[in-house]
Order: sequence, then C-alpha cells, then structure tokens
Amino acid sequence: MFNNVEAYPGDPILSLLEGFLVDSREQKTNLSIGLYYDDQGQIPILESVQQAKTLLQANPAPHTYLPMEGVAAYRDAVQRLVFGADAPQVTDGQIATVQTVGGSGAIHLAARFIKQYLPDSAVWMSDPTWDNHRTLLESAGLAVNTYPYLNAAGNGVDFDAMLSTLQTLPLHSVVLLQPSCHNPTGCDLTPEQFDEVIAIVEHRNLVPFIDMAYQGFGEGLNEDAGPIRKMLQKGLPMFVSNSFSKNFSLYGERVGGLSVVCDSKHVADNVVGQLKAIVRKIYSSPPAFGGQVVATILSTPQLRANWENEVAAMQARMVSMRHALRSALEAQVDYPADFLTRQSGMFSYTGLSATEVDYMREAHGVYLVRSGRICIAGLNSRNVEAVASSIADVISRRRRS
Ligand code: LMR
Repeated sequence: MFNNVEAYPGDPILSLLEGFLVDSREQKTNLSIGLYYDDQGQIPILESVQQAKTLLQANPAPHTYLPMEGVAAYRDAVQRLVFGADAPQVTDGQIATVQTVGGSGAIHLAARFIKQYLPDSAVWMSDPTWDNHRTLLESAGLAVNTYPYLNAAGNGVDFDAMLSTLQTLPLHSVVLLQPSCHNPTGCDLTPEQFDEVIAIVEHRNLVPFIDMAYQGFGEGLNEDAGPIRKMLQKGLPMFVSNSFSKNFSLYGERVGGLSVVCDSKHVADNVVGQLKAIVRKIYSSPPAFGGQVVATILSTPQLRANWENEVAAMQARMVSMRHALRSALEAQVDYPADFLTRQSGMFSYTGLSATEVDYMREAHGVYLVRSGRICIAGLNSRNVEAVASSIADVISRRRRS
C-alpha cells in the first residue's frame, strides 16, 4: 500500500540537530539550530520560568482543553509585549490575537487566513530568509516570491536592491519582514531604513507580515519591536507572528502568537472567530502549559522583572561571544571578521560555502547550517577558540586551493 512513499530528505536545520545528537565525538559543537545555550553549554531553564512553574504547581488546575484561541491572559500579555501596553489599538481591542503552536504555527495559521481572505495576494520574503518560511507559506497554497536582501559581500543589507523591488509590488502584496535579529543573516535594517520601507508599504497599499522570533535578543525588548510599533502608529493593518521559544527558553512547549491589527474591535472579533475556525480544522486548541507559564511571568511584576533581566543577560552574552569569536579569528588568520560584531541577534552569515561547512562538521565536529549560518548562542568561553581555529583552517584551505 505504501511502497511508493519516498524517503524524506530531511529538514536543512532539524536534520543537523539529529546528526549532532548522534555524533559520538567528545569534541563537538552545535552552532546550527537556533537554540540558546548558556556559557556552560546548557540550554537554560530560566529562573523566572522555574518560579512560574512553582506558582502554577501550588494551585493545580485540571488539564482541560484550552479555548481554540488560547489562554485569555496569554493573549493579552502577547499584545502588550509586542505592541506596547499603551497603544490605543491594544486598549481599544482592535488587535485579533490567538495563542499558537509556536512561531511556526502562527506563520502557517496566518498563511491559511491570507489564502482565504486575500486569495490574490502573493507573499514576498527576503532572499535569504529562514528556510521554513517558504514551506509554511506555500503549504497553505500561497504564491511565494523573494525580494533581494543581502549585499554582494554576503554580510550586510543591499537596501537599494530591496527598495527597488518593494517599489514594484502589486497592490495588497504581503511583505514578510523581520523587525530585528534577522534569521539567517543577522543583518538588520536600521530604524531609518525601516521608515523608508514603511513609507513604501503605506504608499503602495502593501500588507506587512512581521515575524518576530527573537524579541529582546537584538537591542532590547522595546527596541526590537520598534518597527511594529511605528507601523501601528501609522494605523497600518498587519500580521505579526511571534515566538517565545528563544526568549523564554521554552522551545518544546510550543508557545507563539498570531496577531492581526484591524480597524475596529468589531472587525478584530470577527478575525479571531475565523482564526478559531482554522485552528479547529488543524489542531483544535493550543497546548496549555507554556502559555500559562508565559502569562504568569508577564503578569506578575516580580517574575517579569526577573525575566527581563534574564533576557538582557542572554543578549549580553551573545554580544560578548560575537566579540570573542571576532578577536580569536582575527588573531589566527588575516580575515576581516568585523561583520560578526556588526550583525545582531542569534545568527550570523559567515560566508562559508556548503562544502566548507561540511568540512568543518566532518573534520572539526563544528555544526553550522549549510548556508554558512552560525548560531552565535552556541558559542561559549570554552569552545570559542576551537571554533575560531576551525574557521581559520577552512579559510587557509580556501586560500591554498
Ligand atoms: C532556527 O532557525 O534554527 C530556529 O528557528 C529553529 C527552527 O525551527 O528552524
């Protein structure tokens, strides 16, 4: 019956993690998937998360179904964190927010909604972008195109090329943007460049779709959401998907959100209703635990303060690892590594080719995504020198060949 089922070639990011976990070498370093490791090389359980778990366990509640749209306190907390607690659209109920199965769930849910209500709109995303964006959007039946993003050197934004494409997009095209910590390149637009993008979006009646998976890992919790808040001030309709996998270190709990900014509370209520209808067709309702943890932290002042400090500490550690890798690399090989400290967030594009990445994995046990993307959060004070040596080795080999 199933003899015609083809082998799955694997996911470009998740398969690397599978390979890393079964690699029996003692000296191995995972810089592939976007997981934040602490300086001891451990995925942390945040103290604020631990405190919230203790609070929740003190008042056990039955494991009933959540509503299709998720926990009300969580949905409110998402809106205040993403859009700002004082935004009139938040206080007036103009934003339709549902709790989703991680950020991926939010993107796919938005895609299904776009397919239903903007059936003629194609989505435009940066080239490159997170590998899974295309899959999540196309699997909902959307047409997906790209706008240029990376410069010729492969380590900064080619803003002119990006703008000239955005200026040609048909009315109501959906433009996928990352407000900060661009995955996979680490290259972000400046606030001034975002202003120019927003002006085009407004002028050409485009529909922004903002994907924010690393709030707080770039410049800060409010700063990283800056482009979203500017669009809100301009009264633009938009989709915002967000994920708490990274900034709460809650990957496996699948905590995300989808928000749709509408013109009125009445419209937002209808949008929530239709999102619920789509959710019911796929998974009925989201998982409860992660949403309850996040809602407890964000609505309890002491826990929230602790969490904000923990996010700031993770951000600072990544910045210090960027500097450490840059100086270790520059000390070992004559190679301009300043891009590491110019880029921001969890990832950097190293410019290494797929063959060089394969060599690093095989010869040195250092795992990167084959696009040359490195996860800065996998570096620590004990492995950074060795990682620099492996990159220096690759660069020297490149020069010799
Ligand atoms: C990544 O880009 O590595 C993360 O967002 C994890 C994933 O699911 O790909």
